[in-house]
Order: sequence, then structure tokens, then C-alpha cells
Amino acid sequence: MAQIIDGKLIAANFREEIAIEVAKIKKEHEITPTLAVILVGCDPASEVYVSNKEKTAHSVGMNSIQFKFSAETTQKELIAKIDELNNDPKIHGILVQLPLPSHINSKAVIHNISPLKDVDGFTIENVGKLSIGDIKDDENSYGAIVPCTPLACLHLIKNAVENSSVFQRNIGLTGLKALVIGASNIVGRPLARLLMLEGCTVTIANRSTRNLSAETLQADIIIVATGVVNLLKKEMVKKGAIIIDVGINRVKINHLESKIVGDVDFDQVKKVASAITPVPGGVGPMTIAYLLQNTIKCCLRIIKNNQ
Ligand code: GUN
Repeated sequence: MAQIIDGKLIAANFREEIAIEVAKIKKEHEITPTLAVILVGCDPASEVYVSNKEKTAHSVGMNSIQFKFSAETTQKELIAKIDELNNDPKIHGILVQLPLPSHINSKAVIHNISPLKDVDGFTIENVGKLSIGDIKDDENSYGAIVPCTPLACLHLIKNAVENSSVFQRNIGLTGLKALVIGASNIVGRPLARLLMLEGCTVTIANRSTRNLSAETLQADIIIVATGVVNLLKKEMVKKGAIIIDVGINRVKINHLESKIVGDVDFDQVKKVASAITPVPGGVGPMTIAYLLQNTIKCCLRIIKNNQ
């Protein structure tokens, strides 16, 4: 039976470290790391995500300011707000909650965020740096700000390997076969890049991949981010594999109640995997913790640039 990866607990420990960093920045620089979150429209799921991000930011001593716009807001208005936030020295990170209403070109909006305040790592500069493996700062330039969900997945994978009796612990992820199912810009693509940098042999599949089982059965690590309930089933998983479930799907239990499930048939797959993330309580809490960590990173860069 698989070890259930406790994302809530791992995130709680990580947040304690973040809170210490926040306190240090406040003490040394008299600055409170501040995140600006832009929410357009009233999609209930986005409202929940944004409110969780805000609460968690406050819990570690950071500021989070929400800017709410109606669903009819124009692209021009949004970009004007982003320009204002880019130029506001009290703001260190800017997040535009996606998806945006269909009349707005998300690409145009995101690419107006200053790469220095791009806590999501979605701007061309940060995506480009990650794609060439430039994720570390050096004396000449800053490495990429890496998207939060891929960082969360990688953290949980490393934790599973360290606690594993199946994998050799001293070589990290080097040489392991990783399969990423789902090639979104938010999760799949950047995660594949990170895993390549860890020395994994990476395959990217999607919900339409033919004979998906042929791919999944080879993999030591499988990350599923497709939004398809029960896409990954027990027969598709090699014994001892590590399973990371990024899916968040609301399914009906009866005509009154519903619950959140991932993309993995959890109750069955846990019988063959060596470690598996639950939904909820797996990747989600870690993603928010990395958003805060990225905000601190941006804040420290801004402080350094101003010195
Ligand atoms: N919508 C779903 N996930 C994300 C994310 O990681 N960042 C933003 N900005 N929007 C999202």
C-alpha cells in the first residue's frame, strides 16, 4: 500500500520557514512582502482559490491585496492596472488569476506584468529562462521565477523519493523515468522542464495520447494534470511508482452533494503505487506555499535592485 503524501503537513512545515524569512525581511528592511492579486469576474472556483491565497499570505505575515474587476472589464483597463502595480514600489508580486473572461486576451495581459514581479512565472522572460535551464541567480542576472504548481509537484516528488524504499535515495531523481500527462503552460510544460533539469527521462503525454498505458507502465513517476476524472487507473501503473495528482474536479455524489476529486483513481492506484498525493490535501497546499516563496524571491530582488 502506498505512502499517502501529506501535502498539508509538508506545506505547513514549509510555511513556517517562509514566516521566518518574512519576519527577517521586515526586521532588516522594514518592508512587508506584498502580493497583488487581480480577479476578474465571479467564477466561484477562482474566488475560492484567491481567498485561500490571501488567507495563507496573511498567515505568514505577508500582505496580500485583492483587486476585483467585473466580468465586463476591458483588456485596456486591466493592463492599466497592471502598469500601475508594476510601478508601485509597495507591490512585490502580481498575480492575475486565470482563466480570464473570453473577450480578454490572457497572453496580452500576462505579458504586461513586469518579469521582476511575475510570481506565477508566466511571462516570456521567465518561461524562456526556465526553458534554457536558467533557474539559478548568478552575478550577472537572475534565474527564472518558476511557476508554483510545478515547484510544488517537484517538492513532493523529492520528498517521496527520500522516504522511499523503492528508489535509491542518494542520487535524487537522476535517471528516473517521469511521465507528465497534460501539457498546459501552468503545469505540464514547466514541470517537464524542471524534471529534465533533475536528470529525469521525461515524456509528455495528454488525454488523447494513444495507448497511454504503454507510457504509464514504464514510468517511475507519473504526474497527472488533465482535468479528466479517473484518467489514471490501477492497471496503468507500474508497481512502486510515485503518483502526483494535480487534478481538481468537482463531482456529484447525489443530487444534493458534491465532492472534489483528482484525475487519479486514488483508492485503486494506492494499492500499487509506492507514494501518492491525495486530492484535496496533496499538491494544492504546496502550490500556495510556493506562491508565497516566489513573492519573497521577487521582494528580495526588488530590495537588492534598489540598494
Ligand atoms: N488558475 C489556475 N491555476 C493558476 C495559477 O497557478 N496561477 C494563476 N494566475 N491562475 C491560475
